[in-house]
Amino acid sequence: MKTVITYGTFDLFHIGHLRILERLRQLGDRLVVGVSTDEFNSIKGKQSIYSYQERAAIVEALSCVDLVIPEDNWQQKQQDIQHYTVDIFGIGSDWQGKFDELESLCQVVYLPRTPTISTTELKKSLSKVDAQSISQIKQGLDSVLNLVKALE
Ligand code: CTP
Repeated sequence: MKTVITYGTFDLFHIGHLRILERLRQLGDRLVVGVSTDEFNSIKGKQSIYSYQERAAIVEALSCVDLVIPEDNWQQKQQDIQHYTVDIFGIGSDWQGKFDELESLCQVVYLPRTPTISTTELKKSLSKVDAQSISQIKQGLDSVLNLVKALE
């Protein structure tokens, strides 16, 4: 049996996440996914919208995923690879070359990212929408105020 392992935050789960997990699963017979815990994300300077429990539950529900484990730290990969008798470590090309040291333990592959979608960009767009809504509400309130003043 060929085991594949990957890691990630998988916040605001999107099509890029699904595609990479499907492609990784196709490389073997079992896919183990390390989902970054909230504590580990804060060490990385990231804050997710969904909690670890929610993100892990979404990833766990996918038919291409066989097992979800928590990712608590940078060092655990070597131990996980041995513990789960991993054949392939795979991750998106944004990490190109960053995990080459694992090649002494298993095959390491970097898969191309799905273009034009990223959690960071989604978060930026959502915060712009918020800012836009606030400014529209303000404009609406100003018009009402002006109307009231005009009637006085
Ligand atoms: N991924 C991908 N295609 C995308 C976005 C992500 O293949 N368009 C992959 C990443 O390369 C990684 C995995 O999905 O292997 C999990 O990504 P994650 O750690 O959740 O980060 P991103 O979605 O890339 O979020 P961000 O843009 O904030 O880094």
